[in-house]
Amino acid sequence: MVNHKSTAAFSHACRVLPGGVNSPVRAFGGVDIEPLFIESAQGSRIRDIDGNEFIDYVGSWGPMILGHAHPAVLDAIHRAVDKGTSFGAPTEAETELAERIIGAFESIQKVRLVSSGTEAVMTAIRLARAFTGRDLIVKMAGCYHGHSDSLLVAAGSGVAEAERRRSAGANPGLPSSPGVPSALAALTIVVPYNDLDAVGAAFEAHRDRIAGVLVEPVAANMGVVPPAEGYLESLRLICDLQRAVLIFDEVISGFRVAFGGAQERYGVQADLTCLGKIIGGGLPLAAFGGKAEIMDMLAPNGKVYQAGTLSGNPIATAAANATLELLTQRDTYDRLEATGAALGTGLTQAAAEADVRVTLNRVGSILSCFFTDRPVRNFADVQTTDIARFKRFFTAMLERGIYLAPSAYEAMFVSLAHTEQDVERTIQAARESFKACS
Ligand SMILES: Cc1ncc(COP(=O)(O)O)c(C=O)c1O
Repeated sequence: MVNHKSTAAFSHACRVLPGGVNSPVRAFGGVDIEPLFIESAQGSRIRDIDGNEFIDYVGSWGPMILGHAHPAVLDAIHRAVDKGTSFGAPTEAETELAERIIGAFESIQKVRLVSSGTEAVMTAIRLARAFTGRDLIVKMAGCYHGHSDSLLVAAGSGVAEAERRRSAGANPGLPSSPGVPSALAALTIVVPYNDLDAVGAAFEAHRDRIAGVLVEPVAANMGVVPPAEGYLESLRLICDLQRAVLIFDEVISGFRVAFGGAQERYGVQADLTCLGKIIGGGLPLAAFGGKAEIMDMLAPNGKVYQAGTLSGNPIATAAANATLELLTQRDTYDRLEATGAALGTGLTQAAAEADVRVTLNRVGSILSCFFTDRPVRNFADVQTTDIARFKRFFTAMLERGIYLAPSAYEAMFVSLAHTEQDVERTIQAARESFKACS
């Protein structure tokens, strides 16, 4: 693969951007090669500045569920741009978007729009603390909830990758990053994902001090790890009994594993829900929402402060409304399920043919192929997988025109633009790549 232009662009970028990137995982540190610089993307394909084209399973890390540059979303963006780029004042399109979100999630009565998932979760925990008058938050090891101070504790994917490279393990209850005060990290109690006993023990140890339980209802920042049967239901029950706020971070799973997210798929309602990625249609927009009695504590109705100059930006809101409208079309989630299933089955078979042991975790259109023969149910399991083999597999796939997330801790994202032919080509590439790395 020729990538001279990307190589030059990266060394140029490294002179002015720390690590040459604006978000760490983009630097390809998890696969020990240099990143490709992207020129454009269309449908299921992404093209680099050297002219190489790939079938893309990163999808901008989740938002591009419709595929890249969907004409209806572009059209909505163009129409919005023509009216001005930002007003710092309310628009009717924001109310329309809030109604769409409320229509999709039974548990959401009121919504606030923000610009990133980090902001959404950061404010959700502030609300939980204000609502309960308590300080502690329970989070699950390997779940990522953005880079706010309180939540950079055992934080999955990007952080795990950086930590692994520094040869340090995740430190439950300790900051995952220098610069996070230990006093803040100490307010976050970390327990393993899918471990209800540990949640029970946390409540036992910190009676009446836990404000909320924060969880990715489908974990997708340590690769994809589905909730064990009954896990989400039990978290709901524990929070009810302990009068703690149940916060589902559906920044990835929202509008992805079902239109109404994991809450629809598993039939469990959260008190507060964080959304991002897909709802922005590829633009910077995120949201959190939930019960009116909690949401009305937000300023200007209540005393809990949160604000944003570009919150509800008209261009992002237009992209969001167009995206959610398209996702309401009939068969959308059946198609995503079918494509995800075909890809998952094909990858498993390809690995078996090459005598490579893998565990395939999939929920709808997000999936991970872990290099292990054991079940993967939590972050500790993920950390026992064969990372060196993943790196060889990643490079072999890239050389065959398949763009996977450059880290063993990330998910594959399937979009509505991925065709049967794309999946067949991917499986063929995987057959060769598994052999190459066996
Ligand atoms: C589950 C989850 N929550 C929150 C975030 C933070 O979102 P953002 O990157 O938009 O700040 C992410 C980002 O990957 C995420 O996956």
